[in-house]
Amino acid sequence: MNTTENIRAQFPILNKQINNNALVYFDNAATVQKPKQVIEAIENYYYNSNANIHRGVHTLSRVATELFEQSRKTIASFFNVKNSQQIIFTSGTTDGLNTLVQSLSKSVLQKNSEIILSTYEHHSNILPWQLWAQHNNGKLKIIPLKENHSLDLEKLEQLITPNTKIISIAHVSNTLGLITNIEKVKEIAKKYNLIIVLDGAQSAPHMKIDLENLDVDFFVCSAHKMYGPTGIGILYMSEKWLQELPVSKVGGGTIKTVSFEKTEYEQGALRFEPGTPNISGAIGFAEAIKFTNIVGITSIYKHELDLVNYAQKQLNELPEVIQYGVSKEKAGVISFNVKNQHPFDVGSLLDKYGIAVRTGHHCTQPLMKVLNTQGTIRASFAIYNTKQELNYFIEKLKKVITMLK
Ligand code: ALA
Repeated sequence: MNTTENIRAQFPILNKQINNNALVYFDNAATVQKPKQVIEAIENYYYNSNANIHRGVHTLSRVATELFEQSRKTIASFFNVKNSQQIIFTSGTTDGLNTLVQSLSKSVLQKNSEIILSTYEHHSNILPWQLWAQHNNGKLKIIPLKENHSLDLEKLEQLITPNTKIISIAHVSNTLGLITNIEKVKEIAKKYNLIIVLDGAQSAPHMKIDLENLDVDFFVCSAHKMYGPTGIGILYMSEKWLQELPVSKVGGGTIKTVSFEKTEYEQGALRFEPGTPNISGAIGFAEAIKFTNIVGITSIYKHELDLVNYAQKQLNELPEVIQYGVSKEKAGVISFNVKNQHPFDVGSLLDKYGIAVRTGHHCTQPLMKVLNTQGTIRASFAIYNTKQELNYFIEKLKKVITMLK
């Protein structure tokens, strides 16, 4: 039975004491804790199956290759992708976006091309585009926010010019937890034949993602926010791009034949995976997907949404608190400040009570500028968090507010 108690029992780290208090881990958007089955799958791989892949005829190499490719299939199936070759392993969302920008710069992007981003992008979905734009006289156009901090998609169409090539957008804001109306974005993108890159780092951990139906060109996410290990993620691409996207990183593993004159590259995912990949990471990622499937992604969404709404309501009753991006439909994240207090001070005092929240700009400095603050306090939830923990958090937050007065 998937009771919260049973689920918590699968996360050994939750038993830790931090500063003589039980750990309350509310920094799940930065990285989520890992269940035993993921830790054990990685350990088991190194104990029993470690070998390099796609390279050897010996038994262990075949076993490791099979585990790696089976992991790709498990992940593809989770995202409803029929051809698992459309799932390219990366070291994470940041790597996926950097690789993608490099590849697109060899085909789609020309001098003066324009890329549309949103105000609440994570730096990872700004910097690779910005770097490209700086060297190529390109331009970034930014979707503004509405009063309620959600994206003003009514303004999206106005940003499009004949030079616009791509909309690269966060599916969920890592700072606010707000969900982008991707159907609306798609409607406009299709009208102007624009490529859509969807940053799923903060949506994939919380929501059902059906890439077949979502029908975007590219999607990126990271395993470590989805109960999996760090250092592994995926770059999904549509069938069209799997055939057409130029490679940007090359090396052993991506080739069929090499001579000093000419190289013939592999087909499919391997074309984009140079070097020895993160084999244990892929296996751990697939195990995290199995964990998620047992609990159910819809249950995860509902559980976290309950916590979000409960937290927003509690915080609303504290006159000293300013909340950002309040909404009844969010993906596991709340952001707030205590009036006239630096978020670091609040975060450091909460830590004394064993409460882990993230404070600062959350790698979204352009958003902070629009919100007119240096930073916020962010609490982000996972399937193992409870209302009791939230009550404890609110009780201690009240104490901290009094202490700082
Ligand atoms: N991108 C991670 C976060 O939002 C680290 O905290």
